[in-house]
Amino acid sequence: MKATFTLNGAAHSADAPAETLLSEYLRDWLGLTGTHIGCDTSQCGACNVLVDGESAKACTLLVATLDGARVTSIEGLGTPEHLHPMQAAFRKAHALQCGFCTPGMVIAGIAIAERHGADVSEETIRHELEGNLCRCTGYQNIVEAIRIGAREMHAAAGETE
Ligand code: FES
Ligand code: FES
Repeated sequence: MKATFTLNGAAHSADAPAETLLSEYLRDWLGLTGTHIGCDTSQCGACNVLVDGESAKACTLLVATLDGARVTSIEGLGTPEHLHPMQAAFRKAHALQCGFCTPGMVIAGIAIAERHGADVSEETIRHELEGNLCRCTGYQNIVEAIRIGAREMHAAAGETE
């Protein structure tokens, strides 16, 4: 089935079997392996991408349903030289160990910052992260990274200071 959508800022036309999941399409068809697959029960959030600005689990989305959508995977955020503020915050706060969950956490963090603003509370972040699992860390640094990232995102957008 065909679907035309925006992927990482560029127009994209997909032609894949109707049952193709976005997670497998990104990884296996396009080589965008920053979208991780950490479970087969839609629980871990390692596959999170932004769809129309909201965090969504790519393992639950069929490519065929994305016609007209705006999809951003982790590859569409920053570059090694110019990290997205949320990526930079994860580095600053040492918010990862093995890094497997990190793309999904960064995507979730961006959606949290967009939805709750620069001063999002720790309580809200922890609640919002219930769909993201990390097997390595105690979450403390991830929460701190999202607090920092939210402030930096909104400062960069000229919404604070
Ligand atoms: S791979 Fe999608 S939620 Fe785990
Ligand atoms: S840093 Fe290893 S799973 Fe989160």
